[in-house]
Order: sequence, then structure tokens, then C-alpha cells
Amino acid sequence: MADIKEILSDMTLDEKIGQLCQYNTQEVVESTAGITGIDENLGLTKAQVDSIGSVLNFANAVEMREAQKKHLENDRNKIPMLFMMDVIHGYRTIYPVPLGLGASFDPELAYDCSRVAAKEASAGGVHVTFTPMVDYVRDARWGRVMETCGEDVLLNSRMGAAQVKAFQGDDLKNPENIATCVKHFAAYGGAEAGRDYSRVDISEQALREFYLPAYKACIDAGTTMVMPSFNTINGVPALANKFLMKKILKEEWGFSGVVISDYHAVDDFETHGYTDNRKENAKIVFENGCDIEMCSTVFFNNLKSLVLDGTFTEEDIDKAVLRVLDLKDKLGLFEDPYRGASDKIDADEFLTEENRAVVRRAAEECAVLLKNDGILPLSKDTKKIALIGPLADNKEIIGFWACMGKPEESVTVKEGIKKLLPNAEIEVAKGASYIWGENSTDGFEDAIKAATNADVVIMCVGEPQDYSGEGKSRAHLEMPGAQEKLIKKIREVNKNIVLLTFAGRPIVLSDVADDARAILHMWYPGTEGGTAAANLLFGDANPSGKVSMSFPKSTGQCPVYYNRTNTSHPKSIEDEDTYLPFHSNYIDCGNLALFPFGYGLSYSNFVYESLELSRNEMTKDDEVTVKITIHNDSDRAGKETVLLFMRDMFASCVRPIQQLIDFKKVYFEAGERKAVEFTIKEEMLRFWNNESQFVSEPGEFRISTGCADNLILTKSLVLK
Ligand code: BGC
Repeated sequence: MADIKEILSDMTLDEKIGQLCQYNTQEVVESTAGITGIDENLGLTKAQVDSIGSVLNFANAVEMREAQKKHLENDRNKIPMLFMMDVIHGYRTIYPVPLGLGASFDPELAYDCSRVAAKEASAGGVHVTFTPMVDYVRDARWGRVMETCGEDVLLNSRMGAAQVKAFQGDDLKNPENIATCVKHFAAYGGAEAGRDYSRVDISEQALREFYLPAYKACIDAGTTMVMPSFNTINGVPALANKFLMKKILKEEWGFSGVVISDYHAVDDFETHGYTDNRKENAKIVFENGCDIEMCSTVFFNNLKSLVLDGTFTEEDIDKAVLRVLDLKDKLGLFEDPYRGASDKIDADEFLTEENRAVVRRAAEECAVLLKNDGILPLSKDTKKIALIGPLADNKEIIGFWACMGKPEESVTVKEGIKKLLPNAEIEVAKGASYIWGENSTDGFEDAIKAATNADVVIMCVGEPQDYSGEGKSRAHLEMPGAQEKLIKKIREVNKNIVLLTFAGRPIVLSDVADDARAILHMWYPGTEGGTAAANLLFGDANPSGKVSMSFPKSTGQCPVYYNRTNTSHPKSIEDEDTYLPFHSNYIDCGNLALFPFGYGLSYSNFVYESLELSRNEMTKDDEVTVKITIHNDSDRAGKETVLLFMRDMFASCVRPIQQLIDFKKVYFEAGERKAVEFTIKEEMLRFWNNESQFVSEPGEFRISTGCADNLILTKSLVLK
């Protein structure tokens, strides 16, 4: 352990401020590794650059070592830099994008995947990952839905906490563990109209119930860092929002780790129209507990004068610096500034068979079978396969923001099927573009030729991987290009169509769902995506994913989500296809999602036989056991995610008609029947009331299972 107070006592105020500043590695470090040197645009002095506490974005462990070495030569205090990076769904061996990972409903799987990422990232020289992203989302137009685990707060909380535990392990000194930074605090996913960076206007009730708990779960799991978001909340940028930064994060949750701004968020205040000078930004942000400024130079240029003019004391600065030094110490950087970093660009830890096996299992468990009339699984004796579509032989299925993952190292669907069925005749045709506005039908002829007389047509369609992510909002959620048209043309010559869909978000499949005999949504599945797809198509793996975010029938329904309230003029699920005047509905579209939250088929046949409560009444101190008996009425073993929903029938604040309160993913042998048990406690029945408290109110609660919009086996539970 280093004596960080001793280190601090030797530092000048300028050097202390350096610890609170972070830049891209390439901007600040001169080295022989081809790094460019001090970026003149930053306008920093050499002394400032030498004192910088952390960097982000670097190529590999060799570059990291070089940069750290150079820094230690230049920094008078010899304080190692922290190296941070966005390890979103793997470092080099890539697993499905987080929204896909959410579809597994399996926190243990998230844990296993994140362990792979932690070990690889550490070998790559990473000390902190800007993960997990647990922004609550309801609008599929927002490109960053890809980075979250879905539209449910409980799911996001459990998946987020599992990631934190996996990356950080029990002891950050262990070089196989790296620190996490939960983001983006708060409610970034509430961006108006699904347009990135857009304003968020939100009630405290929605914030408390839906948006905040997943960040809190990650803090409870021990995340060492938090990143506030870009957006304004109720008119105030998150970083300036005292309610969020001070009241919630520091006072209520007691977060004592490091807070880092998002990229240039500190100098965005003028752009927002919030402040007109950067000294004011520095004052507001630092006062609100932000320790590190990412990429802009507001701290460097203003914090010192804010100490000199008495706004802050040097002790105030010291507290923030100590938090940063403490993190460095926890990571063991004072003993070994290179900790887990390999001395090779391609570390031995990367892409091992073991790592590939984990991400393959993940890709299999995240895929959601949206439709199947019995055509799947396909027989391995299938002779002639037409493999059609822009994603049929496309390495992009590794997915967006794949960190150091290389598309060329991923397995395409074609490669996956070829490997599994070396003797099958596979004819591949791209057929159509998947780029918005590229509507040429020139490729149709080849595709139709391949499809005619094929035993089965597997169509790999969807969005380009970079239609998801930051700044990638969409106003049309149908598949871009001429893909839908292509599907219809193919159907004219061959009805045995299986759609494999790829996207970082829910897409609108309404116009093509009837054209296919089966639809398997792969999300963006990662390095082993093609192998997983082949295993699923031909029955070596059994689909078990469930929809983590509702698939709209039409983009105009967005935001469409499962835990809505009833309204004064509700339309029943039975009336979905009928327009009812003076009801809450659309003239030209139903209300429900095409594939709602929690929906997903299997090759097994899970029959839900009964739901029993250990009692029908409970007091606030009781617990009630729920027993759901399920029979796998098939000759195929499989996994089923059992979802437990509740509805508080009457309350002083109107409650959602369906709300997930627990879930378990359970393995069933072929033919097996078993009871899956849950425990209901009073705290699961609470909500945020108009007196600003979490309370449960006496009365009737309905307890159900099934999936959203298809609740089954409902029982009544009365809270006394
Ligand atoms: C993103 C963050 C990310 C950061 C650093 C920002 O633009 O919003 O999610 O962690 O960049 O790469």
C-alpha cells in the first residue's frame, strides 16, 4: 500500500489539478511508439501534460507501457497514470452487445463474459473500463439502447451488478481484475424522441422507480467510478444537477469513489445554453463532486484561480485528488505501474479457445427465437442451403463498439454453417444492401437463383452494426435498403424462409414476419456469432433468449414498453386489432409490441401448469412463496426464463399493469417437470409516492407469470 497522503503532501497545486484531468493518450504522450506528442489544440503547457493523472483510448499493451514509462520519466512525483477504455462487450474476444446479453436474462452469463473481458483488457493494459452502461431505455430509436441490458430496471440492475463484480473481482490488486465505471448518471436513456443527447424531462417518481435503481445496484456491487451523463434533466445538465450529484449520489447513496465527466461534457454547458463562461463550469462541476474532467481543459484552466480567489480551498482539491490516488493504490499501480499489461501486442490471454467457448455460449443464449412454425431446428441432412442477405457472409456481426475485437477474427454465418455441415451445398448471395437509401434490386436475380430449388433459405438481414451506438438514432426502425423487398421476392420462389436478424436494437419486422417460417434474432452476437447461429439453426443449441426490449409494430408506437399504466380509456389486449373511438389507441396501428418484453420461443415445449402462493394474504413482515410448476413437454433439454410479474390494483399513485419483480433462468431435462420458487417480500411491492417516499400500500396485488402482454396463471395476494 502506498502512503497517498505522503505523496499528496509533496505535490504542488498545479500537479494536483493534473490528477483531475484526462485526455486521449495520443494527445498527451510523446513516445517512440508513434504517439504524436502534445496536441497543440489543447493549449496545455508541458508541465501540465506531465502531471496528467489518467488517459483514455490507446491501442494496446505495448503502447500503454511506452506511454506509462514516458510519463513516469517526466512526472516529478512519479505517479502512474490510470489507463481507461470502453470495454463494452468484450476486449478482444467479443460477446453479444449488452442489449443481447440482457436477452439471456442470465446474470451468471454476464459475469462469465465480463471475466473474459476483464482478463483480456487487463493484459491489454486497461485499468478502468467505462462499463456497465445501465441507462434505462424505452425508445428503440435511440442508438445507445444497444449498450444497455434492456427496458426493465430489475434486469438492468442484476446484469449491471454482475458485470461490476466480474470486472472488479474481490481485490483490485489482482492484475486480472480491472475497475468499473457505471454510466451515464442519470436518465440519459430518456432522451426525448430517442434522439441522442436530447433533453430529458422526467418526474421524480419515474426517476426513482425506473431510472435510478440500476446505477444504485452497481454502486452497491462496488463500482469504483461513476460517469454522469451529457443530457439535461428537467433543464439542468446532469453534471450541474445538484439533486442528482449531491443529494442522490453522495448523500443518499454515500458514493465515495471517483466521479468522471463524460467526453467534453464539462465544456458543453455553453452549448446547452446553461453558462456563458468556463470558470463557472469548473465551479459548478467541481462543487458537485466531479473529480476528473474528460478531454476538455476547463479544470486545468480554472481550478487554480478558483482556489486563489477563495471559492475552493486547497483541501477541497486534495479530497478529489486523494480519491484518484486511492483508486491507483487499490489497483496496485504504485507497486507496479504496468500491472497486468502484457509485453506483447497480442497477449497470450486473447482469443483463447476457452474465451471463445464462453462467448459462443453467450451468443447462443442471447439469441431470441421470435417465430417458428416447426421448421427449426433444421435437419443436419439438409442438402441444399441458400444463404442470402447482406449479413450472410459478413464479419460485421461482431457488433459495434467491439473495443479491440477485430471483425476479421469473427466467424460469419456462412463460415459457421460450412464448418458444421461440411458436405452441404451452400449457395451464398448478398441480394440487397442494408444501407438506408440504397434500394437497388440488382442483386435480386442471383439471390432468387440461389433460393429456387434450395431445401431452405436462410436470410441474414438487419441493420449495419454502426447504425447503433452514440449519435446513431433512427427515425425508421424497419430494415434499411431493399431487404424487405428481397424477402418478398424470395418468398415467391421458396416458402421455406428462415430469417436471421441482426441489429443492436429492436427493429420493426411487421411487414416481413408473415413471409418467414421462422425468425431468430441474433442481435450483434460477437466473435463466435456465426458458430452460434449454425448451432442454433441445426439444433446443436436450443434458443433460450427472451426479448429484453419490446419490438414495436411500427416506429410510430415508440416509446412502446411493457410496464405502462392502464389509462382512463384503455383498450383490451383482445381488441388489439380494432380501432376503438374514445379509447387510448391509434387509428392505424395496434397498441402492443409485435414481440413484447419477455417473449421468446424454444425448441423445447415449456408448459406452465400452475402458480401457487403459500398464502393469499400477507402483512408487511411476511414473506410469501410462489411456486410455478413447469413441464418440459418435449424430448429436448432446454432453458426457460421464468418471469414473475405483479400488478398493484389500486394505489395512491397509479401503478403499471405489469411489473417484473423477479426472474430465474432454469434448466430442464427433456420431459422434466419441476416447480420454480420465488419469494415475495413487502419491499418488492413498493413504489415512490407523492410524498416522496418508497411505500407499499395495503390492498390487492395480482401475481402472474408468462411474458408481458400475455400474463398467465394469475393469483391474488392481499397486503394487509
Ligand atoms: C460516451 C461514453 C464513453 C466516453 C469515453 C463518450 O462519448 O458517451 O459512454 O465512455 O465517450 O469513450
